[in-house]
Amino acid sequence: MSEFMAIANRKGGVGKSTIAVMLAHAAAAWSGRRVLVMDLDTQCNASLMLVGGEGWNKARRAGHTISDYFYDRFDKVAEDESEYILKQAGDVAHPRTGKGQVALLPGSLLLEDVQGVLYLKQAKTGKDPDSVAIDVRGRMKRLMKHFGMDYDLVILDCPPGLSFAALAALDLADKVIVPFRPDFVSQFALDRVALLIERMDTADDLADIPFARRRYACLPNYLRNTGREKLMIEQMALDHPMLKARVPLLDSVARSFDWDETKKSMETKYGDALPHLRALHDEVFGRATTLARTA
Ligand SMILES: Nc1ncnc2c1ncn2[C@@H]1O[C@H](COP(=O)(O)OP(=O)(O)OP(=O)(O)O)[C@@H](O)[C@H]1O
Ligand SMILES: [Mg+2]
Repeated sequence: MSEFMAIANRKGGVGKSTIAVMLAHAAAAWSGRRVLVMDLDTQCNASLMLVGGEGWNKARRAGHTISDYFYDRFDKVAEDESEYILKQAGDVAHPRTGKGQVALLPGSLLLEDVQGVLYLKQAKTGKDPDSVAIDVRGRMKRLMKHFGMDYDLVILDCPPGLSFAALAALDLADKVIVPFRPDFVSQFALDRVALLIERMDTADDLADIPFARRRYACLPNYLRNTGREKLMIEQMALDHPMLKARVPLLDSVARSFDWDETKKSMETKYGDALPHLRALHDEVFGRATTLARTA
């Protein structure tokens, strides 16, 4: 059965796209999963990381991005949608087995405009605005879910804002990884995204859900290993499930942002970030996973 994993935080620049791509490569290379990354952000960073500027432009010109997919298939029953997928994405692959290669549903600068167009189209049904928004998100969720048939793992790289696509992704996700920087403003951001993921209105309602039943887990990123950071993470772990894995601030992680056309090993791609990625992979995908799945 396929698994949908969103990488989300309402805060920008916390490493969502970087972690999404790292986890995609790791799951494909180390667990042998068939992995699809869906780029839901109009900044399209995950797409640039996985196929480079030229590959992404080619997909745009061909009308094979996520906004094309939503627009073209909004009213239709999705069938074979492989034309929208770039199968040879990522710059990791085992020289003999090809393990590590991931697939991509490319992002689009126009996703938010297309969401607006779909909203107006749906509004013609005469329903009230809230119902129209629910309908549009529901259709997007169904269209995203369609790819579960072809992949073991679908990673949804969410934008920082609350677009329809982001809300649909959070609704669909079996698991949500929430990367964050351990700084003052992060606690607030974690609290807000947690309410959204668990569909709760107040912090008290959220507190009633045991950690083992929550769909999300937080991942400290950009660590410098200071005592202050450690204290902040411990404090946040009182209110939110916290992964044991940590991602330090490393040049090798920053460099992994740059795609190049040569396929390479995980060791070459991630350098000294590799043991940290391994620990993250094992915790998230291994048997000892702490994340609950929804029914
Ligand atoms: N652990 C790290 N060490 C060093 N640089 C990092 C690390 N994690 C992420 N970065 C860098 O930080 C920048 C922002 O990361 P990224 O784009 O993944 O964040 P994001 O949360 O997806 O941002 P946005 O909200 O804009 O989508 C990138 O330049 C990335 O290379
Ligand atoms: Mg991003």
